Amino acid sequence: MLEQKLNDLSLLKHAGFINGQWINDKNGKTFEVFNPAVGEVIANVADLGAKETLHAIEAAQAAFEKWKVMPAKQRSSLLRRWFDLVIENQEDLALIMTFEQGKVISESRGEVVYGASYIEWFAEEAKRIYGDVLPNTTADRRSLVIKQPVGVVGAITPWNFPNAMITRKVAPALAAGCTIVLKPASETPLSALALAQLADRAGIPAGVFNVVVGTDAKAIGAELTSNPTVKKITFTGSTVVGKLLMEQSAKTVKKTSMELGGNAPVLIFEDADLDKAIEGALVAKFRNAGQTCICANRILVQDSIYEEFISRFTARVSEFVLGDGVSSESTMGPLITRKAVAGVVSLVNDAMSQGAKICIGGSVADNGDYFFQPTVLRDMNTSMRLAKEEVFGPVAPVFKFSTEKEAVAMANDTEFGLAAYMYTKDHSRIWRVGEALEYGMVGINETAISSEMIPFGGVKESGQGREGSKYGLEDYLEIKYLCLGDI
Ligand code: SIN
Repeated sequence: MLEQKLNDLSLLKHAGFINGQWINDKNGKTFEVFNPAVGEVIANVADLGAKETLHAIEAAQAAFEKWKVMPAKQRSSLLRRWFDLVIENQEDLALIMTFEQGKVISESRGEVVYGASYIEWFAEEAKRIYGDVLPNTTADRRSLVIKQPVGVVGAITPWNFPNAMITRKVAPALAAGCTIVLKPASETPLSALALAQLADRAGIPAGVFNVVVGTDAKAIGAELTSNPTVKKITFTGSTVVGKLLMEQSAKTVKKTSMELGGNAPVLIFEDADLDKAIEGALVAKFRNAGQTCICANRILVQDSIYEEFISRFTARVSEFVLGDGVSSESTMGPLITRKAVAGVVSLVNDAMSQGAKICIGGSVADNGDYFFQPTVLRDMNTSMRLAKEEVFGPVAPVFKFSTEKEAVAMANDTEFGLAAYMYTKDHSRIWRVGEALEYGMVGINETAISSEMIPFGGVKESGQGREGSKYGLEDYLEIKYLCLGDI
């Protein structure tokens, strides 16, 4: 039982958080939250909809009037306090996450720290929102640029990182002086509500950070995207949904930031340090049981080292221990839903029907029907669905290439462009390939590329805008030009 494991039971909330109040559906409607490791209900949460979303937007607009003029130093202190509270409650937040999302507890602990790092970073950046004084065309005028918050932000976040995907949107929004209405994934609302509870405890004023929980994503999304009070939509999730949100947001010309699907290649050249490449590919593929947007979706290995890579990589994959994430023995947890498992099965079957061979895994695991075995597939070709579609599961398809040119062409042969990785010791190749890869982020001899200090985001149909780093704040700011005449 989750309740019995928590130090601070008040972090476990079951209602939406709007204008500083915990809000239930007025007819008592709730939805179930499952622990995918055991397939059991762990909570019933208020099922809110469009009406409550409107209420949250109005609260956010009212709060915006005061929040936007609060001195940056004061906003920064409140964010800093929120950061401290998240770190103090790391263990409880990690437990909540593992129970609702399934990832192993060590990864949940890591995500809480990772998520908190965005709050810390943007607490600092809040004090560094500078304007400009520009040169002039005539002597009697002065031209200035100031930066102002865009206004009320609508944020929609996914289940795969129930904490960090929230903080990396909410923290920059609040730092910039915006207020926010968040709709977290209905699979993982508890982490979002715990974060709201801590933000409230930190003293962030009512209405600044609102959370609407519910299963009617269409209705909540429609209110967020059509309401003219909302000035920006930020979304992490699938490309299909991202396009829809952009379309809906266009009617009121909202700013949008989209962090969408990926199809990350890992290019491993014959001159690579193979030990490092194997470990890097392992991390890039199997983090969160393969359920991240920057997970290695395709491992491309030069033909001369293909066999050695396959046998050594497969040996490492055989060491994973599948199980309930709360057990310290488990090194990989379940997938989020049965539907997710069925999607992985279908992609593996498609590859096998076209000649792929299984080196290890390949089926639903006997731990329960939410678990899929860590899998390595060889003899892949580019007509297989796994070459084009994001698998979002623990399946590593290994492709073969002969030349650098072929590797780059294969890597770029996708509508996605989020993250790519390469392993090589050749410095000329690092530049050539680094520049040729059509991706927003490229890891070179490194696959653990994420942090609060880097601009996370993609090109092509992987989205627009950047999260984290100094660039991450710009997406929440408008540039205003002030022209002073008659000097
Ligand atoms: C994602 O899957 O989009 C997030 C991964 C990360 O922040 O490292």
